[in-house]
Amino acid sequence: MIDLRPKKQQSKRMTQASFFKPVGPLSGKIRVPGDKSISHRAIIFASLAIGTSSIEGLLEGEDVLATAAAMRSMGADIVRDDDAVWSVTGVGVGGLMQPKAALDLGNSGTSTRLLMGLVASHDIMVTFTGDASLSSRPMARVTDPLSMCGASFTTSPDGTLPAMVRGVVPALAITYELPVASAQVKSAVLLAGLNSAGVTTVIEPTLTRDHSERMLIGFGADVRITIREDGARVIKLRGEAELQPQNITVPGDPSSAAFPVVAALITEGSDVVVENVGMNSTRTGIFAILKKMGGDLELLNERTVGGEDVADIHVRHSKLKAITVPADVVPSMIDEFPIFFVAAAMAHGVTRTSGLDELRVKESDRLALMAEGLKSLGVALEETPDGLIIMGSGGAMLRGSNTTIKTALDHRIAMSFAITGQVTDGGVHIDDMTPVRTSFPSFEDMLKELQSKE
Ligand code: S3P
Repeated sequence: MIDLRPKKQQSKRMTQASFFKPVGPLSGKIRVPGDKSISHRAIIFASLAIGTSSIEGLLEGEDVLATAAAMRSMGADIVRDDDAVWSVTGVGVGGLMQPKAALDLGNSGTSTRLLMGLVASHDIMVTFTGDASLSSRPMARVTDPLSMCGASFTTSPDGTLPAMVRGVVPALAITYELPVASAQVKSAVLLAGLNSAGVTTVIEPTLTRDHSERMLIGFGADVRITIREDGARVIKLRGEAELQPQNITVPGDPSSAAFPVVAALITEGSDVVVENVGMNSTRTGIFAILKKMGGDLELLNERTVGGEDVADIHVRHSKLKAITVPADVVPSMIDEFPIFFVAAAMAHGVTRTSGLDELRVKESDRLALMAEGLKSLGVALEETPDGLIIMGSGGAMLRGSNTTIKTALDHRIAMSFAITGQVTDGGVHIDDMTPVRTSFPSFEDMLKELQSKE
């Protein structure tokens, strides 16, 4: 798009400040957009299959559109029809073409890390760029194992974007034990393995979201998963795979569903159903923890759609009690901590979290921003190096303030504080809601729908 703003303003991004205030009980039946993790993978694997796949329910957020644009620039044919069904004709594993320009992946860490893996085992050279948030996120976690495969990387001095990747053919099929619990790193190594000769092995001491493995199996790749004596999960993928096109239905994103669920739990008189939510057990830690806090959550219509568990969630306002979040639940609710901290701020008692160092390197430093924002609303809390300790209000309204919440290009910070607007005297000002477009473009419409009294 051509930037028509005066020269002086051209480097500035457009922002959109917003104000959220209490509007009484939330009610109604809603749906949230498609799962972000599954949507990225659907586009990527379909782009590598031989033939045409169809994808229904794809998240049409900026992050996934960035992945689609990148795959198009490397040769895949990707089109959307009027009913929002996407058709993807792949190039075959090993068939990626040299893109003509740098891949700008906006705010999306998942696009960047997964595509670095894919490029690593193709004979192409690709430059990766992104926005200020993405350009500050660590990439060594993927460039380290992918260098072992034979790919070479030139990153910015601190291991961040912009970065240039030179893929290699044949790439070495490596065995790699994950030093951080990260589905992105696991997926990057598996994607490199797809076009490597031999068997790539990824060992994950802690289970992370398993959408890549499930989808690879669905597309016909030879993937074997075993559990080592110490409980670690061992994933073996045979390279030089041939992927068969699939018809994929993407379920609603549990990470997006967490926002209306918490909103209903903390807003007196609320009664909401969120339909068609993905219930893959590597993702649903938040719902289990909210239930343990006394949240009135009920799963309806439990079913399987396209190899993933799905249900509708019926949620009613509840008196929440504080909790200490066990370490083993953390990976299955890693993206939900911002909105979980909002639930904790409204609970009775002291909620403790630890082992959350990864939150400091998400789209923003989520521990610091959540601590700062909640404090400005009068919440008593302590920020530790790897968690927050939050003294809940016991259900009492939070104290409004005239400060504006800083979101630092982080969609989940923006949405979490938008929800605090429901329970803050005088409401909450947020500096910028545009980051919400990355994962939940209809977020504000959804809130209005729940608030409408018809
Ligand atoms: C994702 C993995 C997680 C998560 C991110 C999406 C994925 O990141 O936070 O939002 O789709 O693989 P990590 O791999 O860094 O834990």
